[in-house]
Amino acid sequence: MEEVIVRLGIPQPKQKQFFMAHRKFVAFGGARGGGKSWAVREKAKRLAIKWAGIKILIIRKTYNDLRENHILPLQADLPPTFAEYKEKDKSFIFRNGSRIKCCYFDNDNDALQYQGQEYDVIFLEEATQFTESVFNVMKACLRGANAFPKRMYLTCNPDGVGFLWVKRLFVSCEYEANENPDDYMFIQSLVDDNKVLMESNPEYVKQLDSLPDDLRKRWRYGSWDVSESQYFGEFRRDIHVCEPFSIPAEWRRYRAFDYGLDMLACYWVAVDALHNAYVYKEFCESDLPISTAAQKILDFTNDDENIYLTLAPPDLWNRSQETGKSKAYLFEEAGLKLVQSSNDREAGWLAIKELLKTDVNGQSRLHIFSNCKKLIKYLPELQRDEKRPTDCATEPHEITHSPDALRYFAVYWTRPAPSPKEKRVRYRADELEDYRRATSQEERDRIIERKGGLPL
Ligand SMILES: Nc1ncnc2c1ncn2[C@@H]1O[C@H](COP(=O)(O)OP(=O)(O)O)[C@@H](O)[C@H]1O
Ligand SMILES: [Mg+2]
Repeated sequence: MEEVIVRLGIPQPKQKQFFMAHRKFVAFGGARGGGKSWAVREKAKRLAIKWAGIKILIIRKTYNDLRENHILPLQADLPPTFAEYKEKDKSFIFRNGSRIKCCYFDNDNDALQYQGQEYDVIFLEEATQFTESVFNVMKACLRGANAFPKRMYLTCNPDGVGFLWVKRLFVSCEYEANENPDDYMFIQSLVDDNKVLMESNPEYVKQLDSLPDDLRKRWRYGSWDVSESQYFGEFRRDIHVCEPFSIPAEWRRYRAFDYGLDMLACYWVAVDALHNAYVYKEFCESDLPISTAAQKILDFTNDDENIYLTLAPPDLWNRSQETGKSKAYLFEEAGLKLVQSSNDREAGWLAIKELLKTDVNGQSRLHIFSNCKKLIKYLPELQRDEKRPTDCATEPHEITHSPDALRYFAVYWTRPAPSPKEKRVRYRADELEDYRRATSQEERDRIIERKGGLPL
């Protein structure tokens, strides 16, 4: 076989530790410029050379970052006769049979296409840019009937939508019953550990030093305190989550939900005499047509629950062009009468913030029963919208439904939307005729509700 020269870089001490780490899940970095991406591609190269036939996957959030950090540098280091790059599936095929596949997940759902595939080693670059569901899907791909190591290497910065799960597993080390603490390991690397960069580009360190306080703490010094990008940074499990208890009959109970075909997220909330709100039940399910969604909400409500009203977003009152009926109308036909909440996002988020706020005794007005798992998970994961910092980001979409449902409750409860009977709106001639000809008050009320007000 023809001789080739393959360039292998020389690791710095922290990178050496990373190369030697043998736990199943190894997280590396935790700050900017620590030499994470360098370590990923060098480790991948070394594994591919050592274990003939091994299957390696490198994941990044965007194609551009994947190309700049991995595909181009690997192409520069690996002669094609030794490892040929195939653009079609972004893979380096080594002549010993090993393979490094590079991929990017713009959207967290992109991970699903890897479900059922097998890899020996997976690198999840910038893991904090992904939700925990990506980590869960990808860790199920770590398998294969062979003697190769099975590992996932993660790099991370203390920010982004994945801030909390990465922090839990690798920094605060709070494990759940099905997680083995011995599987996890974190190796911190700061820019100071990357002497090559410190010497070649001292400007970079100066840039990090001149960042605003919060960013400097995280990107320069690797602090995992509350992340600025988190919208509800005030959320605290010890304050806002409580164990379920039996709710006194006299407390007023509400339901609030967000509905789309992709997801129904419904919450039951009880309010005590002091105006504390307790979110006590959740129901989330995807792909439910309206009639089934209505039925499920009703089935999940006990006969003695005595719901005061059920809140839903105003767009459910838009009429379908084909049938002329609104979703709210269809819900009502299926036995679930709805009350319109407001979709003023900023007012809604502020209303939640108001409920989360703690008083001098450290008590807040919002309490979530520990069985409402999705809300407890997604509320702190919501990110600030980069362009409108007073709003939440709408991506990743799947984490928004539960907070949206809570928002419809909070905004209504603290500032009710005007009742349709206090508003007047323009009716079309045919609608006006329907209204005048209505044979009962009930029918007329339904028209008023559907139109969002009385005729002008
Ligand atoms: N051991 C090393 N030898 C040579 N250059 C390195 C080494 N480690 C890091 N670098 C260089 O330092 C810079 C920052 O490293 P990088 O891996 O991109 O950091 P991070 O991904 O942590 O932000 C890059 O230019 C990288 O090539
Ligand atoms: Mg990097």
